[in-house]
Order: sequence, then C-alpha cells, then structure tokens
Amino acid sequence: MTTQEEQTRAGLRFPAGFAWGAATSAYQIEGAVDEDGRGVSIWDTFTRTPGRILNGHNADVAIDHYHRYREDVAIMADLGLSAYRFSVSWPRIQPTGSGKVNQKGLDFYKRLADELRGHGIDPWLTLYHWDLPQALEDKGGWPNRDVAYCFADYAATVHEALKDHVHTFSTVNEPWCAAFLGYASGEHAPGRREPENAIRGAHHLNLAHGLAVQAMDARRVGGCVNLYAVTPATDSAEDLDAARRIDGLQNRFFLDALLLGRYPEDVLEDVPGEIDFIQPGDMKIINAPIDVLLVNYYSRFTVSGAPGGRQSAAAAPTDSGSPWVGSEHVSFVSGGQPVTAMGWEIDEGGLVEVLTRVAREYPPIPMVVSENGAAFDDVLDDGRIHDDERRAYVEAHLGACKQAIEAGVPLEGYFAWSLMDNFEWAWGYGKRFGLVHVDFETQERLVKDSALWYSEIIRQNRRHEPTDS
Ligand code: FCB
Repeated sequence: MTTQEEQTRAGLRFPAGFAWGAATSAYQIEGAVDEDGRGVSIWDTFTRTPGRILNGHNADVAIDHYHRYREDVAIMADLGLSAYRFSVSWPRIQPTGSGKVNQKGLDFYKRLADELRGHGIDPWLTLYHWDLPQALEDKGGWPNRDVAYCFADYAATVHEALKDHVHTFSTVNEPWCAAFLGYASGEHAPGRREPENAIRGAHHLNLAHGLAVQAMDARRVGGCVNLYAVTPATDSAEDLDAARRIDGLQNRFFLDALLLGRYPEDVLEDVPGEIDFIQPGDMKIINAPIDVLLVNYYSRFTVSGAPGGRQSAAAAPTDSGSPWVGSEHVSFVSGGQPVTAMGWEIDEGGLVEVLTRVAREYPPIPMVVSENGAAFDDVLDDGRIHDDERRAYVEAHLGACKQAIEAGVPLEGYFAWSLMDNFEWAWGYGKRFGLVHVDFETQERLVKDSALWYSEIIRQNRRHEPTDS
C-alpha cells in the first residue's frame, strides 16, 4: 500500500455503526414486468410511447434482478456492504393501485430482505421510486388527491407484511422529480406538461409521505429529498433572485414541508395558478415526525436570471419542457467544474453545504446520504473496468461526508448510486452509474475498480466494529 493510500484510508475513517450502502430502484433493475401478477406502471406505458426514451429502450428485462437477486446480494456481501437501499414496485403489490393485494409481490420483497439479512446487510426499503400503477394515473395521477390516500393504504400493507424484515422504511424517493419531471417537463413518466398540476402533484406527494408515515408509525421511517447546492452566477439582483427561486422549488419546498410543516411563502408566490389544494391539517400530516432524512445529492446548480441565458449541457435527452414551474426564465450555467457523462458538475463542496444547511436551519434530524454517484463511459479492459473517475467522485464525496460529520452533522450512512448499471430513465441503458458493471446482453455482472476501492474503505472501517452489529 502506498503512503498516499494509507493517508486516504485514514482520512476516510467514519464513526462505528455508519451504514455503508448502495442503492437501486425497482423499475431500473427488476425486469419481470408481467410476472407473478405485477400490474402495469406508468413507466411501462411511458417506455412504449415513441420518442420518450433514448433509443426506444424499456425495462421489461432491465438487469433481471427479479430472477438474479441472490447473485446480486452475494455481490453486496462480497463487497462488505452493511446496508442496501432498494424500492418496492407498487404495481407488484397492488396491480391496480388499490384494493386487492398480490401476495406473490410481497413474497418477493420478503425473500429479498431475508437474503440480505442472512448476509448481515440491513434492508432499507423505499416505498415509491416513481413506478405509479397505471390505473392510478388513469384516475388523474398525483394531481388527484385521492392517490395520496391510496399510497397510505399501500404503505400500510407493505409495512404490515415486512416490518419484521426491514431495517428502515422510506416513503417517496425524490418527490421533486416525481412531480416536476413527471408533470411539468414531461421528461419522466407520465410525461405530462401541466405546470399547475405539477405543483398540485408535489403537494400530494408530500401529503402521501405524511399519511404513509402515520400509517407505519411504529417503525423506523424516513423521507427522501434530492438536494442541490444552488449558487447565483453573479451577485446581480437577477441572479440572486434566480438562486432564491431554484433553491425554493428544489430544496425548501420539500424540506420546509417535511421538517417545519409549512411551505415557503416566496415559492407559493413564484408558482402559477391558485393554491387551492392545501387543505386544513395537511401541513401537520406532512410534518409527521420521522426518524431519518434521506438526502440524495449529485451536483450544484449555478443559475442566472439574466435574459437570454443558456441552458446547461445537462439538458434532457428527449424533447421536454421546463421543470422549473414559474421560473422557466432561469438559466443554468457552468460553475467551472468538470462534469460527469450526464453533464452534471462534480462539486463535493456542495454536499457539505447541503448537509450542514439542513443541520443548521431545521430541527435536529439524523441523516444519511441515500444516493450519490456518477455516470462515466466505462471501458472494458481485459476483463477489468478501471473507472478511476467514478472512484475519485465517490472518494471526494465520502470526504465531504466526513467533513460534514466533523462540522456536527448527524450523518449516519452513505449509499452509493448505484450498486449496478441499470435503466437510467429517459436515457435508457445509455448511462452507467454502477459500482458493478452489467453486460446488458448477457446479464453478466463484473465488479468495477471503484467497487473494489469502496469495499476496501468499508473493510477498513468495519474492522473496528463489534461483529454482531
Ligand atoms: C436520481 C434517481 C435515481 C437515478 C439517479 C441517477 O435522481 O433517484 O433513480 O436515476 O438520479
């Protein structure tokens, strides 16, 4: 081992009990879309709509995790993970989104959770990672308030069946994406471009979160947000206003609701349409106490409000509108950092910023980084993938986690996105985020160099822990 490596490893020493994880989501990995009674989700419909997914890809087979979960858990165990975050496909549990429960769906996740626990890996279950049952979209989707109540019923069902098998439940993954990419820009399913309905949908996603927390009240439960560091391009009044708006819609709209039980006034003023969908008592429900906040972090936005600004390189791969409801004029400019294959700027300082900000501005709440990672164009080189850029990305962001902890942030874990290469939404199979490479033809798994590095960091840290943890 070189001295530099030793220093790195010493620098990445985390408190005992820190959760060392990786994350995935159901639609992106499972495949088996019409097996064992699974119903149709909005992503099945969306991927069949011409022009919505790059190269017309779909996730009918994805990476076949539904059939290969044992092999995948064995890989996690080899890497030494102590936690794994996965999501449940709602249409596997309730094929039409309400009413009748499909036992075979529940059984799959029970088997998965038990396989994980058998290898000493804590199952972190996300209830909703964007695959809404199509039957509920046919009733109006998230802009329809009833869907939030259906979600609470679904949450109660999953919780009842799996509460003794799961370490932590979380509700809605990245409600910002579900609302604004699904109903404003149309980049994601169901692909609607209805800005006012996107705001309505965002509120109902928050309400769904709160109702679900109440429905599962006895267990460890969390909410998940995707946070960005937001910087004005200059200190002009226009750019400062742009930063306020984007921070408001991306971060504060969700953080304030979940952690303070209110919406930021300025954001309600920025958005179009009448705010007639917040009913008495809603905010208290949304503010239901949670045990942990799951923070997904990828990048920083540098924004400008000046007329005629350019959108960043990180534009959508398909024809879509703006997700920035009421702030469509804002442009996203380069902050001068290198970018990943997604065109997302690499800025680990932003992770320190968002974590310390939550700790400083909100009531005390334990946190985990529940997604963080990068797509790069991997090259297979004699049976190995030397993905140094991904390793450097993870290393830098783990360093940021360490810095946040030293600054007093109650950060309890880190989940790399993603465990394996998978179906990256509108990008189809065109972007690889995995620590583990997947050959999409043969489904062969291959551990990348970044995974070996991560595994070594985990081992160094876990060496000091009691073995029964
Ligand atoms: C997040 C999503 C996840 C994956 C990563 C790259 O926004 O939660 O499913 O697409 O981005």
